[in-house]
Amino acid sequence: MKPFRKALVTGASSGLGRAICRELAARGVEVVACARRGDKLEDLVRELEAAGARASSLRLDVTSHEAVRGAIASASAEGPLDLVVAGAGVAEHSIEAPDRAARTRQLLEVNLLGAVTTIEAGIEAMAGAGGTVGVLSSLAGTRGLPGAAAYCASKAAIIAYIEARQIELSGHPVRLVDVQPGFVRTPMTAPNEFPMPLLMEVDVAARRTVDGLEAGRAVVSYPRRLAWPLRVVARSAPRGLWRRLLARRKDRPGRR
Ligand SMILES: NC(=O)c1ccc[n+]([C@@H]2O[C@H](COP(=O)([O-])OP(=O)(O)OC[C@H]3O[C@@H](n4cnc5c(N)ncnc54)[C@H](OP(=O)(O)O)[C@@H]3O)[C@@H](O)[C@H]2O)c1
Repeated sequence: MKPFRKALVTGASSGLGRAICRELAARGVEVVACARRGDKLEDLVRELEAAGARASSLRLDVTSHEAVRGAIASASAEGPLDLVVAGAGVAEHSIEAPDRAARTRQLLEVNLLGAVTTIEAGIEAMAGAGGTVGVLSSLAGTRGLPGAAAYCASKAAIIAYIEARQIELSGHPVRLVDVQPGFVRTPMTAPNEFPMPLLMEVDVAARRTVDGLEAGRAVVSYPRRLAWPLRVVARSAPRGLWRRLLARRKDRPGRR
């Protein structure tokens, strides 16, 4: 297990990103918390500092390539980073757009292109001394789910991107870790009205995430009781069977 010294986390104003900041700080890691909502970040920094941790915040929209690169450069200038976590993400229900195509474009800007920008800026910044880039993808990237077409597409795409980059980065000092959570209780899942099997508490998910990042595993998926059936059964189920299994759920709104 490799302890980190300094981490930059996007999506730190809420949910999993915020819980990961808390978990890292509790393990003695200096945290740079990033998101768009500055007031939430300031609350988090105050909380972490009150507990004796070193923390700061940077307001950041991950859809801006320059903003991501600038944030990572400015955080590194005050002491090298050895961990970058691409945690920023949105669900379909977080986006108001006139039509499905516009909503999908906006979602991909954050979940796919924002994550890619963070990955590449993190790799570049840590290429000299080495480090880890962790990405919050999702078990939802395993198969298409009705009600979450854009979300599943974004997560399937980032998983494929990470997989390819992991091969390209073989022997490189920066390690890329794909974190694939199942259902976690956060503001993102709060509006969901359908059953969420094996829903995890956010602090437990954050602990699993940081354990996996420290261990430098290629893929960190949890909970295991959901990840394994998805990997083994759902991934190999023929398209027709998958369609029949899911068709009866397709009209339910608010899916993550
Ligand atoms: N909760 C789950 O069950 C679950 C499962 C699998 C994967 N995940 C993934 O885990 C990540 C965190 O999800 P969560 O459940 O913690 O959601 P959340 O509570 O809604 O938090 C999302 C975070 O992303 C940030 N964000 C959104 N758009 C952004 C942008 N354009 N630029 C910068 N930051 C932005 C938000 O901050 P601001 O609004 O302040 O910018 C917020 O901090 C996401 O990538 C999600 O897809 C979640």
